[in-house]
Amino acid sequence: MKVHEKTRSMVRKAYGTVAKKSVSCCSGSSCCGGDAPEKSEGELGLSCGNPVGFSKIKKGMTVLDLGSGAGKDVFIAAPLTGPKGKVIGVDMTPEMLVLAKKNLAKFTARTGLRNVEFRKGLIEKLPVKAGEADLIISNCVVNLSPDKPAVFREAFRALKPGGRLVVSDIVLNRELPPALKKHAGLYASCVAGALQRRDYLGAIKAAGFKGIKLLSDNTYRAGGTCSDPITDKAGKALDGAASSITVLAEKTKRA
Ligand SMILES: C[S@@+](CC[C@H](N)C(=O)[O-])C[C@H]1O[C@@H](n2cnc3c(N)ncnc32)[C@H](O)[C@@H]1O
Repeated sequence: MKVHEKTRSMVRKAYGTVAKKSVSCCSGSSCCGGDAPEKSEGELGLSCGNPVGFSKIKKGMTVLDLGSGAGKDVFIAAPLTGPKGKVIGVDMTPEMLVLAKKNLAKFTARTGLRNVEFRKGLIEKLPVKAGEADLIISNCVVNLSPDKPAVFREAFRALKPGGRLVVSDIVLNRELPPALKKHAGLYASCVAGALQRRDYLGAIKAAGFKGIKLLSDNTYRAGGTCSDPITDKAGKALDGAASSITVLAEKTKRA
């Protein structure tokens, strides 16, 4: 198995288990932390920010959510785009897609909206046409990818000229000790796979994005209110080492 697929397989297994148990923040190998998000169908406490809150979504937009999980941000975005808009969630974990589709039935019954679609796929090879999206959001996912530069290149391809990327994610502020860097559980918990902040922002720039701005920035503190048992166990070694950030980037019309 190629090294990238080995990483994805480990992540898929971790999130397949999360989806089957529908466990939430602070209960196992999953991401959590950052800004308190709005509640919606699909809330599993796996987020590290609130990208929709920063996205200024307008009626009629096509929004793409990278690593949509149980659909939390998709279901917050869909009423904002309205029936003439559309929200597409992409995820690679079959169990998450099953859960997202169950949540979609509840969402449709509650809102009457039929503007949501979930697609199975990799964020490194998005199942969308070039220029399909006005806005791309993502919440605590890119850090899990074994090829982050490919994710940003794909996001750039999938956006229309003039489109925006609003991504909440974990970045590192310093190198992790080698034992933590190699820790599979800490990878699935969104920490060990995270890039250094400058490399993360550099990968967005290298993909062609302009106007890169930090919209939120919260440093992880050991003993905080929303961490899982694995990050708790790493304790002081992680204190201040990671932050959850939200970044805005634009695909300019001349790109
Ligand atoms: C931490 S959860 C976040 C889910 C959702 N964004 C939220 O905030 O609730 C990460 C999700 O990303 C998906 N994922 C991780 N790596 C992926 C990849 N390379 N391609 C597609 N999906 C991926 C996982 O299956 C999981 O559902």
